[in-house]
Amino acid sequence: MFVECRGTYAWSSKVCLIFLQVFALTISMEESVALASDGVFGDSESVINHKPARRKLDDIAGSINIDCGIPEDFKYIDAKTGLQYTSDAGFISSGINKNISSKFSSTTLHKSLTNVRRFPQGKRNCYTLRPPEGHGTMYLIRASFMYGNYDELNQVPQFDLYIGVNMWDSVKLDNASHLVMKEILHAPSDDDIYVCLVNIGCGEPFISSLEVRHFHDSSYRTESGSLALYRRLDAGSTTNEIVRFKDDAYDRIWFPYNLPDCESLNTTVPIDSHAETEYKLPSKVMTTAIRPMNSSASLDFDFYIGDSTLEFYVYMHFAELEALQENQTRNFSITLNGNPWGEANIVPKYLHSRTVNNKQPVRGSKLKFSIHKTLNSSLPPILNAMEIYMVKGLLQAPTCQEDVNGISRIKSFYLVEKNWQGDPCAPVQPWDGLTCSNNGYESPRIISLNLSSSGLRGKISPSLFNLTALQFLDLSNNSLTGELPEFLSRLSFLTALNVTGNKLSGSVPPDLIARSEKGLLSLSVANNPDLCTSAQCKENKNSVGPIVAAVVSSLVIIFLALVIIWSLKRRKKATKSLVRSPEETWSLKMENQRFRYSEIVSITNNFQTVIGTGGFGTVYHGCMLNGAQVAVKMLSQSSKQGIKEFRNEARFLMRVHHRNLASLVGYCHEGTDMGLIYEYMAGGNLQNYLSGADISTSPLSWRERLQIAVDAAQGEKAN
Ligand SMILES: *[C@@H]1O[C@H](CO)[C@@H](O)[C@H](O)[C@H]1NC(C)=O
Ligand SMILES: *[C@@H]1O[C@H](CO)[C@@H](O)[C@H](O)[C@H]1NC(C)=O
Ligand SMILES: *[C@@H]1O[C@H](CO)[C@@H](O)[C@H](O)[C@H]1NC(C)=O
Ligand SMILES: *[C@@H]1O[C@H](CO)[C@@H](O)[C@H](O)[C@H]1NC(C)=O
Ligand SMILES: *[C@@H]1O[C@H](CO)[C@@H](O)[C@H](O)[C@H]1NC(C)=O
Ligand SMILES: *[C@@H]1O[C@H](CO)[C@@H](O)[C@H](O)[C@H]1NC(C)=O
Ligand SMILES: *[C@@H]1O[C@H](CO)[C@@H](O)[C@H](O)[C@H]1NC(C)=O
Ligand SMILES: *[C@@H]1O[C@H](CO)[C@@H](O)[C@H](O)[C@H]1NC(C)=O
Ligand SMILES: *[C@@H]1O[C@H](CO)[C@@H](O)[C@H](O)[C@H]1NC(C)=O
Ligand SMILES: *[C@@H]1O[C@H](CO)[C@@H](O)[C@H](O)[C@H]1NC(C)=O
Ligand SMILES: *[C@@H]1O[C@H](CO)[C@@H](O)[C@H](O)[C@H]1NC(C)=O
Repeated sequence: MFVECRGTYAWSSKVCLIFLQVFALTISMEESVALASDGVFGDSESVINHKPARRKLDDIAGSINIDCGIPEDFKYIDAKTGLQYTSDAGFISSGINKNISSKFSSTTLHKSLTNVRRFPQGKRNCYTLRPPEGHGTMYLIRASFMYGNYDELNQVPQFDLYIGVNMWDSVKLDNASHLVMKEILHAPSDDDIYVCLVNIGCGEPFISSLEVRHFHDSSYRTESGSLALYRRLDAGSTTNEIVRFKDDAYDRIWFPYNLPDCESLNTTVPIDSHAETEYKLPSKVMTTAIRPMNSSASLDFDFYIGDSTLEFYVYMHFAELEALQENQTRNFSITLNGNPWGEANIVPKYLHSRTVNNKQPVRGSKLKFSIHKTLNSSLPPILNAMEIYMVKGLLQAPTCQEDVNGISRIKSFYLVEKNWQGDPCAPVQPWDGLTCSNNGYESPRIISLNLSSSGLRGKISPSLFNLTALQFLDLSNNSLTGELPEFLSRLSFLTALNVTGNKLSGSVPPDLIARSEKGLLSLSVANNPDLCTSAQCKENKNSVGPIVAAVVSSLVIIFLALVIIWSLKRRKKATKSLVRSPEETWSLKMENQRFRYSEIVSITNNFQTVIGTGGFGTVYHGCMLNGAQVAVKMLSQSSKQGIKEFRNEARFLMRVHHRNLASLVGYCHEGTDMGLIYEYMAGGNLQNYLSGADISTSPLSWRERLQIAVDAAQGEKAN
């Protein structure tokens, strides 16, 4: 059953273990046998890595498919693409789920558009995406929006979309049924990709779906910035339908395109069937093309841009579809706004794709393309497909990475409940309580942190030391304990420190006092009953202080010893009564380990990190106030299993204690909110170790495997 990771075996530190899957399954067997329960427990479908937002992957490597606004824990397979869509709950901590108005819901509408997540609060709300391939490689990110009168107000909002700290686009919808898709090819500089919706005062932002695809080799390149999709056209389409996954391995969406004076040509023989090509173009798109009806005319088309400062990259894709005779040639060149563009004398190869693109970005208020045959070409030009991307300069640098790391650790250290999402300083405004320096396009720095009256507990976070540009720090009116750390005096730009109204102890570091006396620092330390200013502390230390401390601490030790002896005696009695009335003892124990729902929210940092799902519900990572890591399993509202099974599992785990079993820390039962808190096993999933799926660890030897089997059997026997 469970193998636990205390340092008994050489490998155990690495092979901490298990489980969600093995776990839920075993419980179900236990329950049905021992308690003859009819409920079937935890038919876990998937086991998820412990890293945040790293999901089990679909057919497309690195793909993330989020249907924004569906209930948490919900997922489904899209019939058209065969891709699995999940809820956005693990990717954002704010917003409200809404269904679109039934007037706009139809069976033909893509399921992901029938619901939205709306953001009535906060000027900006950010999704955090973390594709497994990490940073420095190209991703396609697609955000879709359809209003569908979800709020019954019939007012189409307008808002801005950001990628990281930089503007991506404005979202403007013409009417309630207008579907707007924004797509960008983006190579993030960090593993976390933020997609932010910014309220510009023209109605509440919302979003319908969010998709991420990984481009294995980045065929699409820019000198700088990212590429926002302007057009992606399937020329000569005979079906008049869009093409996407599975026809397109990257799930690019191709729109049908035909021109008035052109005819379409097609072949039934697949293109690039024997060769892996750079752009992985879908055969369905490349087997159709357009050519001018007048075989001596050119292929002309233009795009009205309006703004001549915008820059574009254009990709034209060609493949010969006709088997040419000896005396036939197809040979053509391209011009843009009258100037030669791309390569001269293009001769497409039969059933092989070829892409022509510009190395330098092009611009103009109009992009007028003309493809014309060369002098001795016997056949007219063709065009199979085309893509146009607009360059999005990523001018604004994100917040200094050290500050980001520092403030992120402070956030998780104190389980800060503010709406802290995306980059700490940008876009638009910093996180609540933060002030950042304005360095133009350079990385902003955090210069002020105000966590006054924020319910902080525990010691002063050492990560504050990483905010090296900090000038102002307000931690007043909290419940902070421990010492006022010496490192605060090494924050060289600090000019104001307010820790008034806490429970700090020890003495104020002399350097802080010195700086305050020199007028370099505004220091407020009042209302900390156990905190000494230096003069008094020295006195105490030199005289009675240590003696008093010694006496007090020995008294404390004696008292503790008495308490332990007394409680051991009590426990013996309790053990006896367990024989008589297990129910009674159980209730008592349960009461001690009962948590309020609000505490669960705080422990899991508002259910931020999902580590697994099962039939029972979702399992979250959590952190207790004492710093111990836990796994919190919440009973989902939609779960068929009810209170009885929930109690059975809690009761069962309360009874059983064994080295090889994960123990129960506590439970929560408040109305319909039910959850169990387990000891956290950091090592991940045993299955991965056994199967060797995780290549970052060395494979287990047979001896280790045998030991796991023995441990599992011991854990089993303990029940
Ligand atoms: C949306 O509709 C589905 C049923 O189609 C329902 O289960 C769900 O609760 C609704 N969501 C909201 C937020 O009303
Ligand atoms: C909504 O706007 C789209 C895009 O402008 C347009 O194609 C469509 O006809 C409009 N629908 C209605 C009902 O006005
Ligand atoms: C393909 O082209 C031929 C003519 O070459 C035409 O008869 C046929 O209808 C086209 N196929 C489709 C699916 O349109
Ligand atoms: C075909 O195009 C050529 C060159 O543009 C033009 O001279 C000729 O008149 C056109 N023929 C027809 C039938 O339109
Ligand atoms: C090409 O050759 C074929 C016979 O192989 C002939 O029928 C046709 O007219 C020729 N076309 C040209 C443009 O010379
Ligand atoms: C294509 O046409 C150009 C210009 O007429 C010529 O220089 C080139 O050799 C031709 N290429 C082929 C493969 O016929
Ligand atoms: C086209 O012209 C080029 C030279 O201008 C010549 O090398 C080539 O063979 C010609 N192609 C045909 C099919 O006549
Ligand atoms: C810090 O935040 C509190 C409220 O959270 C506010 O009352 C206080 O004025 C702020 N301090 C400064 C210096 O802005
Ligand atoms: C201190 O914080 C509590 C809540 O944590 C708040 O009710 C109280 O008003 C705060 N006092 C001051 C002086 O800010
Ligand atoms: C934070 O500061 C400490 C002390 O200087 C340093 O050891 C640590 O590497 C820093 N952490 C980060 C993430 O910069
Ligand atoms: C420190 O914080 C307390 C409580 O929030 C506040 O009353 C006091 O004015 C602050 N002191 C300074 C110097 O800002």
